[in-house]
Amino acid sequence: MDSLRKYRDCLGCFPTGVAIATTISADNALHGLTINSFSSVSLEPPLILFSLDRQASSFDAFHHSSHFAINILTETQAALSQQFSLSHMGKWADVSYKAGHYSGCPLIEDVMAVLECRKKHLYDGGDHLIFIGEVLHFEIVSPHANPLLYYRGNYRELGNSLHTSPKGTF
Ligand SMILES: Cc1cc2nc3c(=O)[nH]c(=O)nc-3n(C[C@H](O)[C@H](O)[C@H](O)COP(=O)(O)O)c2cc1C
Repeated sequence: MDSLRKYRDCLGCFPTGVAIATTISADNALHGLTINSFSSVSLEPPLILFSLDRQASSFDAFHHSSHFAINILTETQAALSQQFSLSHMGKWADVSYKAGHYSGCPLIEDVMAVLECRKKHLYDGGDHLIFIGEVLHFEIVSPHANPLLYYRGNYRELGNSLHTSPKGTF
């Protein structure tokens, strides 16, 4: 097994949620891709991040856009995640969305939650570019749904709660 494969396998030990990052370009074209690099950064001010592969076909659109949105997926949206994890035209053909009031970016309907962001900082992240966004608006769209999870190369669903809460101020 090559070392890059082993490295990816090691990173895959950390379970994540799954989201679709979206933006709209100056010519009104919609762009979106599946991500699991989404993370919160700061509460005050509210900042989040995701990292974008420099080889992604949507790279230029996100790079040039002033805003982006994060659409957090539910466990029923694995097919949608697949659809946005391939570079192809017509990703949006059968997707219901509305334009974000604060960012203009497409907000996908029936997701778990959405965050509309203004692009605040860009940082070099090797073969990725790290986007830090200031959250302009957020909404839990489906409060009773469960999130889609990603772990060791497979989609997963939420397991049982351990009924042990973290101590401290978190
Ligand atoms: C679960 C999952 C998580 C992913 N996370 C990221 C990510 O955080 N950043 C990224 O650039 N690509 C990520 N990808 C890969 C992109 O979704 C994929 O390269 C997509 O084809 C890019 O679309 P585009 O080329 O049309 O921009 C992920 C794919 C999957 C299935």
